[in-house]
Amino acid sequence: GESIAPGAPDAAPLLVAHRGASAYAPEHTREAYELGIAQGADFIEPDLQITRDGVLIALHDVTLDRTTDVAEVFPDRYREVQRGDETLRRWFAVDFTLDEIRRLDAGSWFGPEFAGARIPTLTEVIEIARGRAGIFPETKAPETYAEQGFSMERLLVEELARHGLERRGADPATPVIVQSFSAESLRILREEWDSDLPATFLIGGSAGERWLTDEGLREVAGFATGIGPTKSLLLGRPEMVEAAHAAGLTVVPYTFRERSAGDFANVTDEMTHFLCELGVDGLFTDNPDLFPREAVTS
Ligand code: G3P
Ligand code: CA
Repeated sequence: GESIAPGAPDAAPLLVAHRGASAYAPEHTREAYELGIAQGADFIEPDLQITRDGVLIALHDVTLDRTTDVAEVFPDRYREVQRGDETLRRWFAVDFTLDEIRRLDAGSWFGPEFAGARIPTLTEVIEIARGRAGIFPETKAPETYAEQGFSMERLLVEELARHGLERRGADPATPVIVQSFSAESLRILREEWDSDLPATFLIGGSAGERWLTDEGLREVAGFATGIGPTKSLLLGRPEMVEAAHAAGLTVVPYTFRERSAGDFANVTDEMTHFLCELGVDGLFTDNPDLFPREAVTS
């Protein structure tokens, strides 16, 4: 769907491939993004982290341990972090250059058939999507990176500008929506970098409730064009979607996956309920192939 008019009743809902088609291929790899596009996604979703040499890469965690073989390739390059009584070894993306990160295997953890998959840069994600799907980049841990001297917002705007994608509507075949759990990050994009891109404010957990009041939603409308709540915040509360629409905000909840479809028989039923009964404007899913396209276009 191309239209993202807030709450427009006839706008086609957006199918966002969450970390790519991450139920079937290792998250945030070329393989996962390509599969998401092949499965009909309107957008692919890169989470953003920053390398030591200041390059945006597509990676969910601030550390490389969960999804790569970094501990084998660079056994001594960890930091110790305290978690309760435990001292853990963690390999932070920001401690490695892009050249070093390119040597890591980001596929084997998911399955041997994906051995050798690499962590892509945002540049590479844009090149994968260009002309075929939109891009929904998420600024991750922007405050942490700011403490280390990096402006993630600046890096994002500059990278989009290199591709002529920094303004809303620049390439209708490759729309861009930015997203963040950080209200400050979205404010920086809009106010310091003069961004007019649509922006989705992610809302998670019980602490997110405060944004879902009429007053909270009005405040969100000052720095974003939509909300991305965790799906449990909306279940059984159609009035919440209506209130967001009344505030001029789109609603695109996360994350729909076959392996945790809640009380529903399957994830297609769950997605159908959110789209048709609750009236959301799109959703993030690990299973783009299970999106109920007929239910929402008929
Ligand atoms: O961006 C929507 C959703 O992806 C937020 O959760 O942790 O998967 O980035 P996370
Ligand atoms: Ca995300």
